[in-house]
Amino acid sequence: MRYENVIFDLDGVLVSTDEYHYQAWKKIADEEGIYFDRAINNRLRGVSRMASLEIILERAEKNYTQAEKEELAQRKNRYYQELLGNLTTEDTLKGVRETLAGLRKNAVHIAVGSSSKNTMRILTQVGLENAFDAIADGTEITHSKPNPEVFLLAAQKLGAKPENCLVVEDAPAGVQAGVNAGMQVAGIGEAAKVSQAAFTLQEIRDLLNIAV
Ligand code: BG6
Ligand code: MG
Repeated sequence: MRYENVIFDLDGVLVSTDEYHYQAWKKIADEEGIYFDRAINNRLRGVSRMASLEIILERAEKNYTQAEKEELAQRKNRYYQELLGNLTTEDTLKGVRETLAGLRKNAVHIAVGSSSKNTMRILTQVGLENAFDAIADGTEITHSKPNPEVFLLAAQKLGAKPENCLVVEDAPAGVQAGVNAGMQVAGIGEAAKVSQAAFTLQEIRDLLNIAV
């Protein structure tokens, strides 16, 4: 089946920033004496900064005020942005550039649909800021994944119907968001284990066998 439009998640699909999210949250959790591990981290994939914090605080022994939560979220973003400082054009995940080029060559429209408010900064740092026909990100939405809002916005910016879009996701919450948007989903990494994904990708290049 050929898809006219492919919408990519950012963190963990195009760029390995999912690891930086983990490291920044781990530092916060350690500083606050809250248990946090990679299994819990998988629940944060695709989820907004404040919603991620709420998941981490499930293990906290004290109650945090709204002001304290905001301070923690800001501190996490500072640590995260320090790590983003290391990003270069070398840091797109394996096969991403040739996959994007292959889709474009076959006239498939491509977009980004990410919950991250750091999306433009990341795309610029890795040199992909002009690689997409549309970008929808965390600065433009009210509800993060699993809510479909960001994918529906990306489809709208592409001028595409949801049923003609294929979403590529590494997050269980992102797979759910794609399904909620009425789109088909290709899961990679953690999301390849999620049954609602119509396709599973061993590597991003496999997309060229599905979408083209
Ligand atoms: C998503 C990540 O892309 O963006 C989540 O998968 C993250 O882990 C979310 O919490 C929000 O990111 P940011 O950069 O706005 O804190
Ligand atoms: Mg992701």
